[in-house]
Amino acid sequence: MQEKAKADIAIIGGSGIYDANLLDNVCDVDIDTPFGKPSDSIIVGKHGDVGVCFLPRHGVGHRISPSELNSRANIFALKKLGVKRIIAASAVGSLKEELKPLDIVIPNQIYDRTKSRPSTFFEDGIVVHMGFADPFCPETSKTIVDVANSKGYSVKEGGTYVCMEGPQFSTRAESRVYQALGFDIIGMTAIPEAKLAREAEICYSMIATVTDYDVWYEEDVTIETVIENAMKNEAAVKDIIVSTLDKLSVEQHCMCKDALMGAITTVPSMIPH
Ligand code: ADE
Repeated sequence: MQEKAKADIAIIGGSGIYDANLLDNVCDVDIDTPFGKPSDSIIVGKHGDVGVCFLPRHGVGHRISPSELNSRANIFALKKLGVKRIIAASAVGSLKEELKPLDIVIPNQIYDRTKSRPSTFFEDGIVVHMGFADPFCPETSKTIVDVANSKGYSVKEGGTYVCMEGPQFSTRAESRVYQALGFDIIGMTAIPEAKLAREAEICYSMIATVTDYDVWYEEDVTIETVIENAMKNEAAVKDIIVSTLDKLSVEQHCMCKDALMGAITTVPSMIPH
């Protein structure tokens, strides 16, 4: 890794957002972590005076399936660069009639339905129980919503993202259950990214583009529709990201920065055995 490479804010690009042409003075940085390599080399550059980096979540060319993402390496690499806030872009299906394809949602809750993903940095005798009641950073999300509204985009503020395992889309029965439970959107990537970012005390917020209605409502979901609609929203999502970078304070004022305070079990003698 180039020793000087530093960034305060990271953008994780999802389906439809594959490049970092929103940054100046970019360089490609190869980073190794104790968990292996991130999805790709990370593009580090500047937005004004702020160091910003870009990581294509699925790798360049969309090579890595959601269940196979090495999210621990991705988040660890961003922490190594000094990142304090992450803006994650993601394609999602809609579970509400009023949320139409191409709408944008800034979710505030997650329902975890993943099954087989390493979701903590802490294991092998290091016991950490961290609060995760509010999985997205309220400060970053509010800035994104305010910026998007001021630019005339209609975005939905808040909503529950159900994170499924994939890579297959849901069955109709599963989709109907999620819809009946009142969840808003469905995707495959917020977990474990959001959990690991919180463990790393990095703020994490998501700009979710609705690409389809999922199968509670429509006959079928295809990856062609997902990619096609995600690409249609690429310019809008990038526009919101760039304006958010103008407004976002690098300094964290939220609970994310102290997530591990009191979370690490350091006094085993207090625990009866
Ligand atoms: N990503 C985009 N659309 C999706 C859907 N319907 N289900 C899961 N992930 C998605």
